[in-house]
Amino acid sequence: MAGKEISKEESLSLKGYRHACHIMLYADTDARLFGKIPMKHIVIHVNVSDPLCYPASLVVELNLLSPQMQMRFDGLLGFPGGLVNPAEESLERGLSRELWEEMGTALEVTAEDHHSSCVAPSPPHLITHLYCKRLREEELQEAERAAVLTAADHGLEVLGMVRVPLYVLKNGGGFPSFLSHSFISNSRSQLLAALRDLGLLSPGELDSAVACAEKIRH
Ligand code: GTP
Ligand code: MN
Ligand code: MN
Ligand code: MN
Ligand code: MN
Ligand code: MN
Repeated sequence: MAGKEISKEESLSLKGYRHACHIMLYADTDARLFGKIPMKHIVIHVNVSDPLCYPASLVVELNLLSPQMQMRFDGLLGFPGGLVNPAEESLERGLSRELWEEMGTALEVTAEDHHSSCVAPSPPHLITHLYCKRLREEELQEAERAAVLTAADHGLEVLGMVRVPLYVLKNGGGFPSFLSHSFISNSRSQLLAALRDLGLLSPGELDSAVACAEKIRH
């Protein structure tokens, strides 16, 4: 489900493809879950009877957190963003327009925010572009409020913004549980790749979480 990675330039030279641009917005946070679990830490609990669970006494500190996804109208999770016609507007302008429609926030997206482009496995003839942008925590909170209060698409295309939990609780609660939900197109692969490439989670942590999610799903 990862799709084939391709450069942005090459993707724009392909004929007969549609382009979808989405973005992962994220920020630092000092929030604490239940008033004690710092949300900017991954808290890894060991369960000795469960070999797929994380190794013992690992508490990994993260500086950056709270990636934003959305519950879409179709009941699937995905990133904010949408279809852009490169003949009419740049990918970045189109993504900014979608963010305005879906989140009610005027955010400038630039070419430097581009993370990856990919020929999606489904639907056919779709190139998916992922952008990543780090906001200050206040900016992220403001964007969350605007998404409910002023976004034109709130309650229509978008049922709500959600934060991605990056901590792990006992029995796979947190990030593994989140991964066990259903995602649109290759957005789940985009999430995993972005977290890895931004250094928010290590490849080992991601592999463990994916394995744990598989167990939850079945
Ligand atoms: P309309 O405004 O109704 O046209 O929708 P949109 O422009 O907001 O399009 P949407 O966000 O649904 O994205 C267009 C297509 O891209 C979808 O049909 C999915 O196949 C795919 N898609 C949607 N969200 C994501 C995402 O987060 N990541 C990836 N890789 N693909 C997505
Ligand atoms: Mn409660
Ligand atoms: Mn849209
Ligand atoms: Mn659209
Ligand atoms: Mn959309
Ligand atoms: Mn729309």
